[in-house]
Amino acid sequence: MRVLVTGGSGYVGSHAVRELVDSGHDVVLYDNLSTGNRALSQGFELIVGDISDRDRLAPILETVDAVMHFAASAYVGESVSNPRKYFHNNVESALSLLDAVLASNVRRFVFSSTCATYGLPETLPITESSPREPINPYGATKLFFEHVLSAYNVSHSLRYVALRYFNAAGAHANGMIGEIHDPETHLIPLALKAVLKTAPPLKVFGKDFDTPDGTCIRDYVHVSDLGSAHALALEYLANGGASISLNLGTGQGTSIKEVLDSFRRLTGLNVPHEFGPPRTGDPPALFANSAKAKEVLGWVARRDIDEILMSAWKWQQKLEAAKYRI
Ligand SMILES: NC(=O)c1ccc[n+]([C@@H]2O[C@H](COP(=O)([O-])OP(=O)(O)OC[C@H]3O[C@@H](n4cnc5c(N)ncnc54)[C@H](O)[C@@H]3O)[C@@H](O)[C@H]2O)c1
Repeated sequence: MRVLVTGGSGYVGSHAVRELVDSGHDVVLYDNLSTGNRALSQGFELIVGDISDRDRLAPILETVDAVMHFAASAYVGESVSNPRKYFHNNVESALSLLDAVLASNVRRFVFSSTCATYGLPETLPITESSPREPINPYGATKLFFEHVLSAYNVSHSLRYVALRYFNAAGAHANGMIGEIHDPETHLIPLALKAVLKTAPPLKVFGKDFDTPDGTCIRDYVHVSDLGSAHALALEYLANGGASISLNLGTGQGTSIKEVLDSFRRLTGLNVPHEFGPPRTGDPPALFANSAKAKEVLGWVARRDIDEILMSAWKWQQKLEAAKYRI
């Protein structure tokens, strides 16, 4: 299949396109490079454009069989300080993309959703039927778009898979691509930058949570495992699968302290860090039940936290050596 990948020059999208190509698909990347990086799409067909530009998308959509939609604004904190940007990009522009899709013959759509659609869970692990009550504008935009997909499925036969990622982490095994965000807000790259002294000591928000060691627990899932779920989702839709939303996590919660301890065990290096007050609305623990993704797609996360850390470490050192603009 030929697939239009919006946001293909971003972190998760660039890893997914490699999994798609490895599974025998052909891809065309479409990205406005607002947070993405051209270096991540090297060797792939990239069209620089905005998802709101229907005229630009129309001829491209004539050449593809499916759309994978990664393009979004994706900083939780920024969504609180600048919600307009988030509703405009993740809803208004994304609706425009869907208009372009509906005007074409494409009826297969894979969407990057998020565990942020659940908000503060009452019970763990989080299943797809857990209440979806986002606590920030970012999560609200992603939930809204899932509602749109569900409605368009009924009225326009647009079949979709919404993949609710937990914490994407790690880098590609080829050492050529990995996480580049500016500003960086994710724990693992910030920790590794602190080791390399390209960032200040890691700020750990809160040490008295109701967790075994007092630090926050999250479900870190390797970005290449997320990529393989996209290839499986495409196959599922090609085989006539019905629209569905699926959690993508390892099911394994890892505390911040455990991340730092694992890194020390693997490399002998300490992550310089200091504790700060907890952030408002930060849940003590979030981890997924991904049984449905296993049942429906045959997907499981194959890489553990050690592989996540070592691949991210290799990438972060390369990034520093190459002096990538980040
Ligand atoms: N990284 C995570 O842990 C995580 C977790 C859950 C969900 N997600 C979702 O996965 C997707 C990818 O996230 P990421 O971490 O790779 O972010 P990213 O910022 O690296 O990638 C997003 C890409 O979309 C592009 N883009 C943004 N708005 C655009 C527009 N209007 N038109 C064209 N291109 C546009 C950016 O330039 C960038 O290349 C997002 O939808 C995000 O919400 C990410």
